[in-house]
Amino acid sequence: MSESPFLEDFRLAAPYIRAHRGKTFVVVFGGEAMRSRKLPELVQDVVLLHSLGVRLVLVAGSRPQIERRIAERGGESRYHDGLRITDADALAAAKEAAGVNRVELERLLTVSLPGSPMAGARVRVAAGNFVTARPCGVLDGVDFQSTGRVRRVDAEAIRQRLDDDAIVILTPLGYSLTGEAFNLSTPELAAETAVALGAEKVIALAEAKTWTEGGERIGALTLAELDARLGGKRRITADLRLHLEAAALAIRGGVRRAHVLPRKADGALVRELFTREGIGTLISREPYEDVRRALPRDVPALLQLLEPLADQGVLVHRPREVLENDIERFRVLERDGLILACAAIYPYPTDGTAELACLAVSSEHRSNGRGEAMLGAIEREAKELGLASLFVLTTQSHHFFRQHGFVPAPPSALPATRPPYDRKRRSKVLTKKVSGGAGAAPPSGAG
Ligand code: ARG
Repeated sequence: MSESPFLEDFRLAAPYIRAHRGKTFVVVFGGEAMRSRKLPELVQDVVLLHSLGVRLVLVAGSRPQIERRIAERGGESRYHDGLRITDADALAAAKEAAGVNRVELERLLTVSLPGSPMAGARVRVAAGNFVTARPCGVLDGVDFQSTGRVRRVDAEAIRQRLDDDAIVILTPLGYSLTGEAFNLSTPELAAETAVALGAEKVIALAEAKTWTEGGERIGALTLAELDARLGGKRRITADLRLHLEAAALAIRGGVRRAHVLPRKADGALVRELFTREGIGTLISREPYEDVRRALPRDVPALLQLLEPLADQGVLVHRPREVLENDIERFRVLERDGLILACAAIYPYPTDGTAELACLAVSSEHRSNGRGEAMLGAIEREAKELGLASLFVLTTQSHHFFRQHGFVPAPPSALPATRPPYDRKRRSKVLTKKVSGGAGAAPPSGAG
């Protein structure tokens, strides 16, 4: 730990500053953000990203602005399945709202007051006819009129502006080759744009609070996990659902990461992008955190993770040579290049069991189910090896293991071929059946 938390955080952000430089991010937010008092702060954070060399496309929605304009004309907003039915009045309102929003963003992006975070920033802004649209047509017997879908995003034109160091602004309107304007869904436009650009990220600033389950933030999901939730029974607010569906679309189209953040959280963009934990939900094709086999190059990181715990007597000391020798026994949980947790498995096939050893989670990353993740991975492996049980020796964590289905056993139950039980250490021995189904799986390596 350094004395200055600022220094600490800034250094932790460094890998992300490097990683994000030169990458393209599409940032999307609804019209609610556009009329919020906090819009200037959001824009400041956007400019901060721009100063760090991120190539940015902003997509600004306008639903409440359109609604207000329609209401002022004495009309009524009509939706079907969350999609606006755009009649002539609604289209006129959409054009006005898009225009006003674009001007508003251009204005705010030009601020460079001394003493503000934007001091000295000279940001170029570009907008244009980047999006070709086609009519939605009639769906479920409903004529959507001037509601459109994205036909094509002119990625080349947008890229030129980005190469020119401009921030590109998109509003949810597209034009057809016959000269009509169409009103588009903002999250869908953002996703299609990210796909067309081959963007690294699409980042949605949603109205909803952080997405949670059982009171805990859903920090990261794979595309498959997201699909399961979108098709599941749990209620998801309309705004969140639109962003999540767009996130799925973007990831399917090859965008590397989609982030859905609570817009109202202070500095949401910066906190999501420059910390490992983030504050929103990250969706990617592959798991953000994955348990994998340890490699020799992980030894220094493993030492760093294990030494403090060994010093506290929680784990047995394992010198570098032991780790190097046993490295193929180790599994690690890695995220963005950092080892967050580890565990080792020592099989005793003749006894139909394996020792789960050296389960450790780095101190800054406890309490997020990572111990469970490691345990689960080792259990699966034991099962795949056809073993019937796991056992563990622990001095301080027997509660954790009891909670996860382990039961106490006498030291005499340990496999005879295992190094002898250390009577001075007096660890507790616990075991757990891991075989699926009723009876024990036949020990495959037995004999
Ligand atoms: N800062 C990293 C990124 O920009 C990681 C963010 C992690 N976020 C999360 N919700 N788990 O990709």
